Amino acid sequence: MGSIDLQEALSRAKGEVDHALAGFLAEEEGIPERLRQAMAHSLLGGGKRLRPILVLWTWQALMAGDSADVPAPPADVLRAACGLECLHTYSLIHDDLPAMDDDVLRRGRPTCHVAFDEATAILAGDGLQALGFNWLARAAGGRAAEVVAEAAAAVGPAGMVGGQQLDLDAEGSRVGPDEVTRIHRLKTGALITVSLLAGARLAGAKASSLATLERAGQALGLAFQGADDLLDLEGDAGSLGKTPGKDQAAGKATWIRALGADEARQITTEYGRTGCGILVEVLPSNPAAGLLQALAAFLWQRAA
Ligand code: IPE
Ligand code: IPE
Ligand code: MG
Ligand code: MG
Ligand code: MG
Repeated sequence: MGSIDLQEALSRAKGEVDHALAGFLAEEEGIPERLRQAMAHSLLGGGKRLRPILVLWTWQALMAGDSADVPAPPADVLRAACGLECLHTYSLIHDDLPAMDDDVLRRGRPTCHVAFDEATAILAGDGLQALGFNWLARAAGGRAAEVVAEAAAAVGPAGMVGGQQLDLDAEGSRVGPDEVTRIHRLKTGALITVSLLAGARLAGAKASSLATLERAGQALGLAFQGADDLLDLEGDAGSLGKTPGKDQAAGKATWIRALGADEARQITTEYGRTGCGILVEVLPSNPAAGLLQALAAFLWQRAA
């Protein structure tokens, strides 16, 4: 699977997710106009859509088995995938608030609190969180409750929100690499992991496959945040769509701060390779599985 194929497939999948997100949001009635605009500003304004694409490609990879015929995801799977993007976007809106990372640029546009105001941005995040769970809960096949419970754990106080607390607590203080790893696992790894698990659960995967995917997701999630931190150090606003150099300025707990950039890159690569190696164990042989494997590598190689 060459990288050109992956980029083409990603861009097609991103187009489908963008279209679905706009359609599902438009179906929601009764949202006050200013709140709708703020939610739409953040949800529909760019983003790589990696979490929903992980859901969709995992679902397709497992459903196709060893057949080259990959089924198209039905609407409820697409809606669930979009639900995880709502949860992720909510986390970004709150992450950017002045009381948190205080960022003005996100996805190449002004952050929600800059484009609207702080109170509206808080509420837009709250609204997207509820909407995300709603869209997950509407998944068919009797598996919605498990998926919702797992997603709630992933973004909750022992997951993303807990990681964000530790991330803020650690600002400016000396933290060792193991504490950084713990923060990354919670604030970022949990939602990446649950993206693989949601796709697999909705495809009816057995417990042993779920356990393997969980291990793959945890390693890939760590590598993903490692790459995000390397890009914060080395990237530019134009390609990132967010302000670089923020982590150093804020004294964020990163592997770079704990160990230096070279070692941080090495750890990122190690976790990335480990995640890809675990993932391949559980995947059948079909075009969607090939794409998922290539995407798993892109999650961390993007900072190479
Ligand atoms: C950024 O996530 C936040 C992290 C957890 C590192 P992404 O890099 O996936 O951001 P978008 O969705 O593409 O904007
Ligand atoms: C993101 O970590 C974690 C979230 C839960 C949003 P960062 O603070 O590094 O993400 P960016 O760099 O602002 O996207
Ligand atoms: Mg942050
Ligand atoms: Mg941030
Ligand atoms: Mg970052």
